[in-house]
Amino acid sequence: MKGVVLAGGLGTRLYPLTKITNKHLLPVFNKPMIYYPIETLIEAGIEDILIVTGGNSAGDFLRLLGNGKKFGLKHLNYTYQEGEGGIAAALSLAEHFVDNDRFVVVLGDNIIEKSIKKEVNIFKQQKEGARILLKETNTPEKFGVAEIKEGRITKITEKPKHPLSNFAVIGIYMYDNNVFDIIKTLEPSGRGELEITDVNNRYLEEGKLAFGVMDGWWTDAGTFESLLRANNLVYERERRDKIK
Ligand code: DAU
Repeated sequence: MKGVVLAGGLGTRLYPLTKITNKHLLPVFNKPMIYYPIETLIEAGIEDILIVTGGNSAGDFLRLLGNGKKFGLKHLNYTYQEGEGGIAAALSLAEHFVDNDRFVVVLGDNIIEKSIKKEVNIFKQQKEGARILLKETNTPEKFGVAEIKEGRITKITEKPKHPLSNFAVIGIYMYDNNVFDIIKTLEPSGRGELEITDVNNRYLEEGKLAFGVMDGWWTDAGTFESLLRANNLVYERERRDKIK
């Protein structure tokens, strides 16, 4: 199983913080943001990792992460996304890296409290398709939202004005390599991006989308409010772990 961290995009919602640097290099408590998704993958036993960078300061990722020695890795792979074509566009750059394997994608600004190991192990048993993770939130309108009927997802809507559930689709996705063929057929959305929600809905239409519900807290860190929240949540977790 391979892992991909998406750290492209321009992070314009965090201007001027991201005017001269990349969002994923900003601090979240005592580490750069990009450390968290990398640690999420490694903790789940995934050590063959591709970082998709983009926008400003792409070279700084190499200076910061090198070959991943600090994380106990032997090697790290990198690629570069030009422009801000969307999450699915960034993901398409992983095609050669993934090859015939299956993989877990983590958005570079998504931070979780606990482990995804159990979910990854379930996906390993899944014959084909995709697996997504949901988390209940008070602000579903800010995310992809899964409508659920009788224990099944019926539809995912990206940032709906009137969400039909409180279940956000978090930025950790598991795919087979069919995802690259799906991305090739996508059209840009209203915001001019290739949407990961369209990818997930395609798997859903094919009856190949499984899901789990995340344990513990989850946050993104792509707005001023969520960046502050991420800092506080990580700080509290570190403090708790120290006391333990
Ligand atoms: O955080 C989870 C949410 O992430 C999901 O619920 C949504 O369905 C999904 O669309 C996404 O929503 P955002 O609009 O918050 O995503 P954002 O544009 O902030 O991008 C999240 C990460 O994806 C970003 O930190 C880096 C990566 N990315 C994004 C874009 C637009 C890229 O690598 N390239 C890109 O072009």
